[in-house]
Amino acid sequence: EMEPHERAFQERVDAGQKIEPKEWMPEGYRKTLVRQISQHAHSEIVGQLPEGNWISRAPTLERKAILLAKVQDEAGHGLYLYCAAETLGISRDQMYEQLHSGKAKYSSIFNYPTLTWADIGAIGWLVDGAAIMNQVPLQRCSYGPYARAMVRICKEESFHQRQGFDILMKMVKGTPAQKAMVQDALNRWWWPSLMMFGPSDDASVHSAQSMAWKIKQNSNDELRQKFVDQTVPQAKYLGLTVPDPDLKWNEEKGGHDFGEPDWEEFFNVIAGNGPCNAERLDARRQAWDDGVWFRDGLTAHAERAADRRAA
Ligand code: 3HC
Repeated sequence: EMEPHERAFQERVDAGQKIEPKEWMPEGYRKTLVRQISQHAHSEIVGQLPEGNWISRAPTLERKAILLAKVQDEAGHGLYLYCAAETLGISRDQMYEQLHSGKAKYSSIFNYPTLTWADIGAIGWLVDGAAIMNQVPLQRCSYGPYARAMVRICKEESFHQRQGFDILMKMVKGTPAQKAMVQDALNRWWWPSLMMFGPSDDASVHSAQSMAWKIKQNSNDELRQKFVDQTVPQAKYLGLTVPDPDLKWNEEKGGHDFGEPDWEEFFNVIAGNGPCNAERLDARRQAWDDGVWFRDGLTAHAERAADRRAA
């Protein structure tokens, strides 16, 4: 049985109202938003690493400039989302500590290596494509600051996806070796992209409550299905083969049937044992250590300015 103010809260959520930082909210609502928004922000920050690997290796100056812009966008998305999480009472330092200590998760997809330039195209096309699928509904999330952050982020993600697809369109029209490089990238990124949407609905511990609170609008499997149905025709357009022997159009379902992702791999990766987890966290810890002098300078300056004002 709900307490009176919990029922009033739920009625507001059911009515599609936005909950703002200073308003009453159930402790569980606040905690699940801190968890999801901070992990979303970590994903954006860690997500710069696989792509950053190719900024100095891009095949042309134009591709370098585009990739640089995309990586800078991701940094901005991360800072935007850390700000949204801070409105719920957690500090930036606490969130960084949770990432660096391995306590906090970030999207599984960023624990895979970027072996060729075609991977950069596959990340834009598939990873940003999946991110858009997941983030568009988040614009209708019941928590105001998160929903508003998503509006701007979704606009920039569309550019990220287009530039990735453009890379692959160029390569599939290139030499047979370039086309084979694209097929190899699809083979390695297809299944990890499906896993981005989270475990299957029956294994999703948060979905029911997150959907009741209108944090999550659609279930993990629903968005995964939408992603497959949208992406398979694009793979065909590129002349690629999707690496799933069970993939086939199901007329009465009006969608594709497809195989099961390797959930053992997924839970391994999110437990910290993916191909690049250690490397990614080391890079973030190193960046934190390298930035001590800068943070100390900022705080020393702020203290001296405060002393001058007080004098
Ligand atoms: N990677 C890592 N952990 C994942 C995951 C994934 N792909 N999918 C699920 N999990 C974790 C959940 O965090 C949860 O663990 P926790 O309790 O320790 O947090 C557990 O697996 C159970 O999963 P649930 O489905 O029950 O959890 P959620 O209801 O939180 O759903 C989610 C998972 C769909 C990822 C949801 O958290 C979400 O929508 N998050 C915000 C969007 C997001 O983070 N997208 C990936 C960003 S990639 C990106 O933005 C960069 C792009 O611009 C390139």
